[in-house]
Amino acid sequence: MLGKDLLGIEDLERPEIERILETAQRMTEIGTRDVKKVPTLRGRTVVNLFFEPSTRTQTSFEIAGKRLAADVVNFSTAGSSLSKKESILDTAKTLDAMDPDCVVVRHKVAGVPKRIADVLEAPVINAGDGAHEHPSQALLDMLTVFQQKDRLDGLTVAIIGDIAHSRVARSNIYGFGKMGAEVRIAGPPTMLPADVETLGVKAYCSLREVLDGADVVMALRIQRERLEGACFPSVREYAATFGLDRAKLRYAKDDAIVMHPGPVNRGVELSHDLADHRPSVILDQVRNGVALRMALLYLISGRPRTRAESPQE
Ligand code: NCD
Repeated sequence: MLGKDLLGIEDLERPEIERILETAQRMTEIGTRDVKKVPTLRGRTVVNLFFEPSTRTQTSFEIAGKRLAADVVNFSTAGSSLSKKESILDTAKTLDAMDPDCVVVRHKVAGVPKRIADVLEAPVINAGDGAHEHPSQALLDMLTVFQQKDRLDGLTVAIIGDIAHSRVARSNIYGFGKMGAEVRIAGPPTMLPADVETLGVKAYCSLREVLDGADVVMALRIQRERLEGACFPSVREYAATFGLDRAKLRYAKDDAIVMHPGPVNRGVELSHDLADHRPSVILDQVRNGVALRMALLYLISGRPRTRAESPQE
């Protein structure tokens, strides 16, 4: 069950996903206590190594580690030796020599967490690499849907927007697919990935078609920082064609829920009204992000250390 690192949902088997979700569901209770801390990871060290900006993911990994009583270090790339041109791998190896129990990596280039994982003793969790994968986000999304629908098997999940540039979409396509849901995607043709078929999803060009019969509607942020050249005529046109509001949501099932990984471009992917009110579950996603990352840290960094010089074995 679960290898040394967590680099992508593509690498996970369904029972591993189920185990993570069950563990996360149990962790949610800790967040409702007056004293939100348990000693599970006391004496363990978690390093957050974020080379790309983050609000939700970095903060929730930090809170998750602290709720489990781990020592959490946020490595800030500004002010580090990276500004003296130390390579990423040398930086990572330097941190590894301080014996962390887990290193959480985000980078704008796909594959960097894997490169780092290959040279580190410590387990690595991918917190988002370029347009490749964002496994903890997909897992918290699956947890949120499970809480709302009591199942994942047999659901229809519509993912809308900038699929080609979205690591969230890719991880969710793998995850919901492995858990037995039907995943559909829609967006402007230039925002659909070239390998749609190999991902095993059906692509739609209209919102009405993709929403027909959908239980879950996931809107994605337009990744302006990853768009090289103009991929769509204008933001206003995108909002008119693929932006979700309450009227367009009527194409989906009556009890459909609306999700977004954040940050939201309000009035583009989602109307203000939908961003703030049910059936949107955006803040449930954020809340679940803490419990889910507690589960990951527990399952990945809470294992007995195998290295020879470990003082514990
Ligand atoms: C996402 C990301 O960074 O990949 N945000 C997040 O982690 N919640 C999605 C995005 O930036 O659009």
